[in-house]
Amino acid sequence: MNRRYRKTVIAGNWKMNKTPAEAKALINEIKETVGKVKWCDVIVCVPYVDIPAAVKACKGAKISVGAQNIHFEPKGAYTGEISADMLKELGVKYVIVGHSERRQYFAETDETVNKKVHTVLEAGMQPIVCVGESLQQREQGVTASVIETQVRIALNGVAKEQMRKIIIAYEPIWAIGTGKTATSEQAAEVCTGIREIIRSLYGARVARSVSIQYGGSMNAKNAAELLAQNDIDGGLIGGASLKAPDFAAIINAANQ
Ligand code: 13P
Repeated sequence: MNRRYRKTVIAGNWKMNKTPAEAKALINEIKETVGKVKWCDVIVCVPYVDIPAAVKACKGAKISVGAQNIHFEPKGAYTGEISADMLKELGVKYVIVGHSERRQYFAETDETVNKKVHTVLEAGMQPIVCVGESLQQREQGVTASVIETQVRIALNGVAKEQMRKIIIAYEPIWAIGTGKTATSEQAAEVCTGIREIIRSLYGARVARSVSIQYGGSMNAKNAAELLAQNDIDGGLIGGASLKAPDFAAIINAANQ
């Protein structure tokens, strides 16, 4: 974290978990468990159908609601898809774009990720852009180039002024849902590399203002050490965000 230049952002990615009633209960439990949130932004990225209940439950608390995906077209014959206007009208402030599960199971590419980034920005919401290498790519020693390609294509055509709305999440695929967290050194190395790419594209001022999260088996125990790294400005949390005491502990670690 480096609060002098950028925000610390803790976001829960609930994935395909919780009904609307369960969402309301979990958010209420988080509100009761977490201390005063002063130093970081807190987001819950819930399933589409949970959004109205989540927005209502978050009212008055310093928690924003995010979506987990979006379609890049504004409207039309795209059965089963959800547009920016639909999300915005419900009070969504953030949208996860390019999560590795969407890339892996739903054929998202760097190009569709880029289109979605523009869609989210144009609607006045903030994208949380996910990048990350597979285990095979890490073992082949191509992590840095994989991440560079993902970041450069995701940000293609994004103007300098729009960069303050972008959050990047580094999520090594091998660490997601496996209990195998990246070491703080591994995570910091890639997050520093991402900031370097942003610097080369937009300059030092923009680079130091962008929040870069780590995601992948972040939990109540390892959060403080990861967040202590200068270039890790928060977390995108799956499993541990579904348990109020664990999510609250991570928020509190970011709030120190
Ligand atoms: P886990 O925290 O369950 O590993 O999931 C991370 C993730 O994919 C967040 O987007």
